[in-house]
Amino acid sequence: MIKPVIAGNWKMNKKVTESIELVKNLKTLVEDINQVDIIVCPPFTSLYPVSEIIKGTNIQLGGQNCYLKESGAYTGEIAPQMLLDVGCQWTIIGHSERRQYFSETDSLLNQKLKYVVETGLKIMFCVGETLDEREGNQTESVLRRQIIEGLRDLTAEQMKNIVIAYEPVWAIGTGKNATKEQAQEAHAFIRSLIEREFGKSTAENVPIQYGGSVKPENAQELISQPDVNGFLVGGASLKADSFAQIIKACI
Ligand code: 13P
Repeated sequence: MIKPVIAGNWKMNKKVTESIELVKNLKTLVEDINQVDIIVCPPFTSLYPVSEIIKGTNIQLGGQNCYLKESGAYTGEIAPQMLLDVGCQWTIIGHSERRQYFSETDSLLNQKLKYVVETGLKIMFCVGETLDEREGNQTESVLRRQIIEGLRDLTAEQMKNIVIAYEPVWAIGTGKNATKEQAQEAHAFIRSLIEREFGKSTAENVPIQYGGSVKPENAQELISQPDVNGFLVGGASLKADSFAQIIKACI
């Protein structure tokens, strides 16, 4: 049984005071929950104040992205070591918004994964097809390319620190989530790819999160699918109430 991993991706939302308020509220709502891993991924400017509030609690901290160098002349970038320094255990890599708006390619993401996994940060690696790709029957070929090229040359040992997030682009921020059948089908396919690349034991143990319009109303039926092992939540993680309800639906 894989322990569910539920992460809130706040994206470019919440100033410092708003972040503090949100995470304080969340902390009380999820206080005694240890059956799932709970992660919040605030914007970089809020990481430090949030980390001070969640110290010693069951809430873990993640970045939304990072670069593949420890330091240097890379204006605007953040090193994985800086995320660790500020109290992160996690980072997201390869979110579709990074791929779409910031031209992050499979090959760049592969370099990031190989570098970041060696720093000790755990990674939520995002994959998912666009609406055009789904309608053109390319879902499997897109997922195959993103998984094989993204995870190229990683080892089964390194895969222990990687979670896959299946986020169909057409479901992100649209209010239109994948059905439980669509999610299960994609997750099972991703798990089969992981098995082919890394073996049965890695495939059986890798958590695969679903992301895309997850809400308190659909969380339970999605998490009941055998290959859905958690969520990467956008909009609904911006309110302590709805994020806590999603977390509780996974217990
Ligand atoms: P929404 O939950 O707002 O659809 O966003 C999903 C997402 O992109 C999480 O990374």
